[in-house]
Amino acid sequence: MKKTVLVIGSGGRCHAIVDALHKSPSVGKIYCAQGNPGIAQTAEPVPIKETDIPALRDWALEHNIDLTVVGPEVPLSLGIADEFRKAGLNIFGHTKSATQIESSKSFAKMIMQKANVPTASYRPFDDYNEALDYVSSRPFPTVIKYDGLAAGKGVVIANNLSEAQTALQDMLCNNTFGNDKVIIEDYLTGPEFSLMCFVSGRQVAAMPVAQDHKRAFDNDEGPNTGGMGAYTPLPFITPQDEQFAIEHIIQPVANRMADEGCPLSGVLYGGLMKTDNGIKVIEFNARFGDPETEVVLPLLESDIYPMLFNVATGRQLPSLNWSKKAVLGVVLASKGYPGHYVKGALITGADSFEGIIYHMGTKYEGNQLLTAGGRVMMAVSMADDLKQARDHVYRQLQHIQCSNLFYRNDIGHWALNSKPVVLDGKQMAQQIKDDLRCQVQSLVSQNKRVPALAVILVGNNPASQTYVNGKIKACASTGIQSRLVSLPDSVSEQELLQHISSLNRDDTVDGILVQLPLPKHINTENVINAIAPEKDVDAFHPLNVAQLWNGTPNLVPCTPRGIMYMLHNHNIRIDGKTAVVVGRSNIVGKPVAKLLLDENATVIIAHSHTEDLESITRMADILIVAVGKKHCIGLTHVKPGATVIDVGINRDSDGKLYGDVNFDEVKTIVSYITPVPGGVGPMTIAMLLENTLQCYKQRNHNNQL
Ligand code: AMP
Ligand code: GLY
Repeated sequence: MKKTVLVIGSGGRCHAIVDALHKSPSVGKIYCAQGNPGIAQTAEPVPIKETDIPALRDWALEHNIDLTVVGPEVPLSLGIADEFRKAGLNIFGHTKSATQIESSKSFAKMIMQKANVPTASYRPFDDYNEALDYVSSRPFPTVIKYDGLAAGKGVVIANNLSEAQTALQDMLCNNTFGNDKVIIEDYLTGPEFSLMCFVSGRQVAAMPVAQDHKRAFDNDEGPNTGGMGAYTPLPFITPQDEQFAIEHIIQPVANRMADEGCPLSGVLYGGLMKTDNGIKVIEFNARFGDPETEVVLPLLESDIYPMLFNVATGRQLPSLNWSKKAVLGVVLASKGYPGHYVKGALITGADSFEGIIYHMGTKYEGNQLLTAGGRVMMAVSMADDLKQARDHVYRQLQHIQCSNLFYRNDIGHWALNSKPVVLDGKQMAQQIKDDLRCQVQSLVSQNKRVPALAVILVGNNPASQTYVNGKIKACASTGIQSRLVSLPDSVSEQELLQHISSLNRDDTVDGILVQLPLPKHINTENVINAIAPEKDVDAFHPLNVAQLWNGTPNLVPCTPRGIMYMLHNHNIRIDGKTAVVVGRSNIVGKPVAKLLLDENATVIIAHSHTEDLESITRMADILIVAVGKKHCIGLTHVKPGATVIDVGINRDSDGKLYGDVNFDEVKTIVSYITPVPGGVGPMTIAMLLENTLQCYKQRNHNNQL
């Protein structure tokens, strides 16, 4: 026998729930109290208010309803689930006492504290003066939350004392919302996401994560609303993040609620934030999110009825299949919303929208569709990826005409527009070389000697030859003189040291570089030590290394100098930031770590085998990778908004160059990134030329004294 279901509510969320029930092979008749014109296409309207609990209960009894599903929080907080259960009716929705997880901020905080769930630290207040004293003693911004249901308007992020004063007056003195309690909590930052779970006692079944857009206008500007759009999946939330949130947030809260004698039996909605210090709870809701439900439920491939019924009746939860597609939805709202707006404007073309239209606040007059609320409808598209879903929705929205509607043009921007600034080493190196050429030309025009670099190449290793050719060519492009000293593989260490010694004494040579690696019979350390420190353009000589570690660097190794140049050139903040350097070589990893330390970064050095590398690299505001292992850094290793510098060059069997960092994966969430090839490599050569000029200037300066 097919089941008869009553859905309570009237917005877009209920439309999505009714749609999912309509697809269910278990469900026959669907009623909705009170519903809306969209819902009425598949569910019979019941003209009873969602707050009139006795009437709803009696109606459900009379109509032999198998299951009632509650959409909004208000009937739950009024005890609809308790009343229905008392009457022997099955209802999907929490009891009044369990609904406190949403309706009372201090209750939710208490549960989180007891369950050891990460959230912003807070203090409760009911006295205006005490609250104001507390706020005055703390940094801004600070978060003031009304301790009860406030239809999304009970949170104020106060940026200064006067904003805090106004909010506290509203909430504690003017009785704007009802009771007079607030909590004041720490301000957290990071991307927000919504994780909705079916919860029955201690059983938890998660839905795909989604993100809501709460502010009214593009760029997340304007007042907070009930939600202007949503999408799923979220590229910046990893499967590990989801797992963490289920294990360390949802499950412990479900357990604690059961322990407290108010077990959950409905949806637990975690409003979560991925902060620098891990995932934390911003708020809980005791119901499906709106508008998240409108983008999540279309992905459900299984029958929803057994899940809702088993939650309601405490049976074992079935497992659900979710499509891996992307869904994105845009809310059309009345102009003026969330402030004052007028109703009754004519909407045309909604039938031509290819996709799903969820009705939120509409009504029919005859066969004319009119606006009848703040949020009027939500246009939703499903596609293989987010970009296609977004492009489709916005293209199709052109069909819908109404003089009094507006919508945001940037739904999904967090996932789709996070185009990183590519730190283009080639272009930066070219500018440096252009500048050097001007300096050299001016020396020429003054009839002065030009800087000169001696490059010693031992043997005929093809890679070394390529590097040396690149260096000689770079000298030529700037007018810096180069002298190539090519020695056979068989040269003795003694002979090599004599060559270096004569270059050390040669007044027409400013920089000396020995291309590494050297043949096995030559001791590299002896060779490096033989180069005069003031001509040591690679800066590997112990005196140059010592000066770097003393904090008084004179010549800085080329790649680290190039990296620092890139960071400075893009005004990327180093002071006070966390930098993680993966790779510990004396040529790159260690010196760059020291340079970052000198600029007051917190620096962590790791290597490719460091245990739990992901959780370390995810702490990085600045991530520098120099290990030489193709794509050892992927999406899960980086924190959204980080700066990533890839020093790795790996040549694949197909001859293609790859970095240590999986550029295509990581670029979706970082702010700055170097591409490979073309990132740091050209900067290393540019810095070699800079070092040569620096040696030249220092020698000339010393000679003049
Ligand atoms: P809520 O009504 O609890 O969802 O809060 C509304 C919005 O205020 C949230 O979506 C956040 O953007 C913001 N918010 C709430 N609490 C905090 C907090 N502790 N730190 C930063 N932002 C917050
Ligand atoms: N989308 C936020 C909420 O449902 O409360």
